[in-house]
Amino acid sequence: MLDRLNQLEHDALDSLAQVNSAEDLAAWQASIFGTKRSKGELDQVLSVLGTLGREERPAFGRRANEVKQALLAALEARQSVVKAQELERQLQKGVLDVTLPGTPVHRGRLHPSTQALRRIVRIFAQMGFEVYRSPEVETDENNFELLNMPPEHPARDMWDTFYTTTPGVLLRTHTSPGQIRVMRERYPKPIRVVLPGMVYRYEQVTARSEMQFNQVEGLAVGRNITLADLKGTMTEFARQMYGSQQRIRFRCSYFPFTEPSVEVDVYWGLETERDRMITKGTGWLEIAGAGMVHPKVLRNGGYDPAQWTGFAFGMGVERTAMRLYGINDIRYFWSNDLRFLEQF
Ligand code: DAH
Repeated sequence: MLDRLNQLEHDALDSLAQVNSAEDLAAWQASIFGTKRSKGELDQVLSVLGTLGREERPAFGRRANEVKQALLAALEARQSVVKAQELERQLQKGVLDVTLPGTPVHRGRLHPSTQALRRIVRIFAQMGFEVYRSPEVETDENNFELLNMPPEHPARDMWDTFYTTTPGVLLRTHTSPGQIRVMRERYPKPIRVVLPGMVYRYEQVTARSEMQFNQVEGLAVGRNITLADLKGTMTEFARQMYGSQQRIRFRCSYFPFTEPSVEVDVYWGLETERDRMITKGTGWLEIAGAGMVHPKVLRNGGYDPAQWTGFAFGMGVERTAMRLYGINDIRYFWSNDLRFLEQF
């Protein structure tokens, strides 16, 4: 019986030495060790174990195990030889061109809105403004009422709104409700904060307005704050953001929560039809609304308007980024087109 084992080992090693391809190697492995469906030669020899006498069995078992281990080791060794041979063959055929560029790895980056937002926040941080986070899902009270827009106030028409199914709860239409939150939390300390984040409007999407966008709200409340502080702050911001040659203008406007109110425009240019569309024919792009905080709003925040004054602004981050990068359509920001996003 041991002879059959020895014979098997000898023959198998012999035929293994002839194997030169991955397919032949697989066939050899199947013939010796078997597959799920068929028995291999080794199993066949081992099947005689049951017919052996008691004295013969231990020696046979031991030898069978040795043979099996030897064949497995030989198989492994042959596998690496065959692999090397195949690689060599491919190299000779020229299949593998090591000078070809590899598979490119896509590098992630920050969205241009996030980049612009961080830049804006960094500039205000240098001027002493602290970042304050406030929620995107707001109450009607904070978003409108406490900002001096009671229900049915016509100024609400300026903000087409996404309401939730919970009465009195909506997606904020601007970052201004954060003013109320900061004031109520910080009273009676002076305030100098910026509030960045996404806002939502149920609006027609055009080249100059989207239905979701980022704003950075600013709020400064103190004892002797005047419109001159607002002008100085916005002018310095524009200088830092766009360089000292950037032209900026303040235009009278109306917001229920400021008095007086202004809009802040940066010069865009008026050469092409596109310029005309984006700037409504003026050459100027509005990047922020601003003004002196309305006495009623100060009072709603807990500050006595006889003693405190403040300025506020709400800046459109994508508008600001359009001017910064020369992007002439705001819809690019949320269309998720990599050809656009990878340019920043
Ligand atoms: N909340 C206004 C808007 O979204 C912008 C704005 C105007 C914010 C004047 C202010 C402000 O803080 O003082 O249209």
